[in-house]
Amino acid sequence: MDIEAVQTSYSRWAPVYDRTFGAVTNIGRRRAVEYINSRGGTVLEVGVGTGLSLPHYNRDMRVTGIDFSQDMLDKAIAKVQQQGLTQVEELRQMDARKLDFPDNHFDTVTAMHVLSVVPEPERVMAEIARVCKPGGQVVITNHFAREDGTLARLERLFAPLANTIGWHSDFRIETVLGEECLTLEERRTLPPLGMMTFLVLGKRLA
Ligand SMILES: C[S@@+](CC[C@H](N)C(=O)[O-])C[C@H]1O[C@@H](n2cnc3c(N)ncnc32)[C@H](O)[C@@H]1O
Repeated sequence: MDIEAVQTSYSRWAPVYDRTFGAVTNIGRRRAVEYINSRGGTVLEVGVGTGLSLPHYNRDMRVTGIDFSQDMLDKAIAKVQQQGLTQVEELRQMDARKLDFPDNHFDTVTAMHVLSVVPEPERVMAEIARVCKPGGQVVITNHFAREDGTLARLERLFAPLANTIGWHSDFRIETVLGEECLTLEERRTLPPLGMMTFLVLGKRLA
């Protein structure tokens, strides 16, 4: 997607997101946050969207969220205020291709259902790797393209509509596995229907 399409598409999604795509993908979000809670510390959520994950972080976590779409972010800000989510330290409008944080800064960096949306996902992965501490982890949930079968054909059919629907339906897992300092530690398929994948990548110590 190009960045203007992110803006317009997610401005349309924001009012209905929690009841539609957001509801269908809750299991992956819960699974990722449970995992991050078990490690504790600081976390950056890239493309935090409407903040559906935020109430699930333990109160002793320190959570920062960024998103390009101010309309999505406004929903997240409202959740933090209405639910008194003291674990959320900061929510900022930012482009994930140029993260305004120092190197080696967060214990965990997570991107849930985001990498198939952002323009230049390899550049976003490089930024994610940069701001993650050595010994820290990158936690990803996303839909990745299937190799074959009817669903794979459907994914390819919808691929040219990325700017309209809001994500790339035929996004390949190799796109997020190319960072040299990140090692794949865990890969699991998630419900519904095994459509989502949960990945943990560890950042090397040196
Ligand atoms: C499908 S939503 C996922 C939101 C949230 N992570 C969740 O699981 O519900 C994708 C999000 O990525 C954000 N996004 C897309 N491109 C971005 C970029 N370059 N920088 C930051 N956020 C971006 C969109 O604005 C949108 O909120």
